[in-house]
Amino acid sequence: MTPLKEECLRLPGLIDCHVHFREPGGEQKETMATGARSARAGGVLTVCDMPNTSPPTVTVTALEDKVRRAAQVKDCDIRFFFGATKREHLDELKRLWTDQKLHSLKARCAGLKVYMDHSTGNQGMEESLIPEAFKLCAELSIPLVAHCEDPEINRRATEELKQKDITAHSLMRPPESEERAVARVIELASQYGTHTHATHISSRDAMTLIRTAKANGVPITCDVTPHHLFLTIDDYAKLGTLAKMNPPLRSIRSAAHQSALWAAITDGTVDCIASDHAPHTLAEKQTADILKAPSGVPGVETMLPLLLTVAAGKWPGPKLQATNYKLQVEDIVRLCFTNPNRIFSLRAPSGDRVEVKMSEEWVIHGNALHSKCGWTPYEGWKVVGKITPL
Ligand code: NCD
Ligand code: ZN
Ligand code: ZN
Repeated sequence: MTPLKEECLRLPGLIDCHVHFREPGGEQKETMATGARSARAGGVLTVCDMPNTSPPTVTVTALEDKVRRAAQVKDCDIRFFFGATKREHLDELKRLWTDQKLHSLKARCAGLKVYMDHSTGNQGMEESLIPEAFKLCAELSIPLVAHCEDPEINRRATEELKQKDITAHSLMRPPESEERAVARVIELASQYGTHTHATHISSRDAMTLIRTAKANGVPITCDVTPHHLFLTIDDYAKLGTLAKMNPPLRSIRSAAHQSALWAAITDGTVDCIASDHAPHTLAEKQTADILKAPSGVPGVETMLPLLLTVAAGKWPGPKLQATNYKLQVEDIVRLCFTNPNRIFSLRAPSGDRVEVKMSEEWVIHGNALHSKCGWTPYEGWKVVGKITPL
């Protein structure tokens, strides 16, 4: 990071290690080209794209196709996670990692993504296969990224549900679900020695489990998303289904989930911030049956501005407010560049590639952002820091 004048900084191009660019199969929501343009405008120059596309990235052929498409995209370096729901997908991953002829393809793959429960795209892994995935990744030193929600707890919570409004989504996927899945992932990481990365951690007690596991030497890292850092269930009132994502927004009254995430950033339990950029069209989101609206929010372009606002000592929102949360620009570089670069062996360049003017304030508008989906959960929010890719 290079300070120029007092209010003008230069940073490396950031890394967002969790995005869904939807190509192939979901081009009405986003394409690699539009996703990359959005990333670049937000100071993000390397992304790791998730496998829940259509077809899903569960074969060498599907990965080859994605890598071929990404080669045409200049705005951002797109890497890919492999997915697996069945044994034959793990066989394909093994072939990718061990066949010398696939060496350059393997270099584009950041690791394996395991969904402990279904999320958008129904990539939940067969229960009996989960330990095998951890074993294989340990043997071949493949980073394993886990979406941590427990299918059994989610199923039961959904059955017991009385509520019919959108707040039901948070009750259907309660904090205990994440906690149980994180406990399982820690157990497996510790048993097999797999380098495990728990993504989009959203709740207090799951974070506590990760903190303790790290202290005990378990090879686990984690990330949190901007939406869990800046939104809570109170935002359903204004956003409705636009605030629907997995894991869901949490309460700040039943437990201090959001402040626990910020505390975990401060004490180093959180390794990365990643957007989980998951665009859907407005028409898809604003369906009459709120429980059928797809889960996911866009965020690759707004991540850095939201974080820079906190670095400027302010809380983003319809009005800039004061905040007690502390974040330095150096922390943003560590969380959104240095750590993901190391964890996923991405070798993204560390030279200055983004300029930030901290003296400028601006207002986020979905139609001015570059994602194809054309909306943002932060509509009308004031932020600090004008971003210019160099
Ligand atoms: C993601 C999507 O839409 O692909 N949705 C979400 O709510 N986060 C899937 C995921 O990351 O779980
Ligand atoms: Zn997920
Ligand atoms: Zn995701």
